[in-house]
Amino acid sequence: MKAITLCFLVLVSASCLLKTNANVDVHPDFQAAEVELDLWLAELEAEGDYMDVEQFGFIVSCAKILKKCLSSVRGVNCILKEVVAVMKACTDYVEAIDACGVAVPKDVATVVSSCKAMITICNNIIHLNSTLCASDDSTTSKCMLQLFKACMQLTRKINTTLKQITKLPSDTSSCFVAATSKVKTACNNFLPNIDKCIDSM
Ligand SMILES: *[C@@H]1O[C@H](CO)[C@@H](O)[C@H](O)[C@H]1NC(C)=O
Ligand SMILES: *[C@@H]1O[C@H](CO)[C@@H](O)[C@H](O)[C@H]1NC(C)=O
Repeated sequence: MKAITLCFLVLVSASCLLKTNANVDVHPDFQAAEVELDLWLAELEAEGDYMDVEQFGFIVSCAKILKKCLSSVRGVNCILKEVVAVMKACTDYVEAIDACGVAVPKDVATVVSSCKAMITICNNIIHLNSTLCASDDSTTSKCMLQLFKACMQLTRKINTTLKQITKLPSDTSSCFVAATSKVKTACNNFLPNIDKCIDSM
């Protein structure tokens, strides 16, 4: 990442800051976090040289959607709603697989463990929202950054889970297939729904 690009990014975000000032709904913690978010994106862009183009493009577009959404109170609430939906789908999935009552094949077990990891990330996000992000403390710009990172982590985990689901063998038992199709829908909906959050801001 060239220094000039970095300066440009900081300039762009400064002008965005002016624009978002006009918006009454701007999250109080967001503006302080925005410069840090942009630095994070810039670092990511520097790493991009070592990442495959498709993956890099995906991550950057997720980051942009999340950043935009986090800029308003309504956007944050909307993200939280979607996080809760993913967590519920994952919790239901783990229970449904258990209820199938037969030995869990290796490929299904892989998806189960991804879902458990997603439950943990979702719990972290909900916890952040109700602790760090709910306080009036001036340090809460950290909340935005942590919320952002946790949401990025969730988005990437959703992506790998969807890939694992695609790899399930065709002879997977119908009980597992039925449970998996529900969690698959929830995973597929996450990012498009976050994108829709922006429209409702
Ligand atoms: C998962 O990530 C890849 C890039 O690594 C991207 O092309 C693809 O669209 C993503 N899939 C979903 C469903 O988010
Ligand atoms: C997130 O925090 C806000 C403000 O404290 C609260 O109103 C909301 O219910 C929380 N959302 C979740 C899903 O916990």
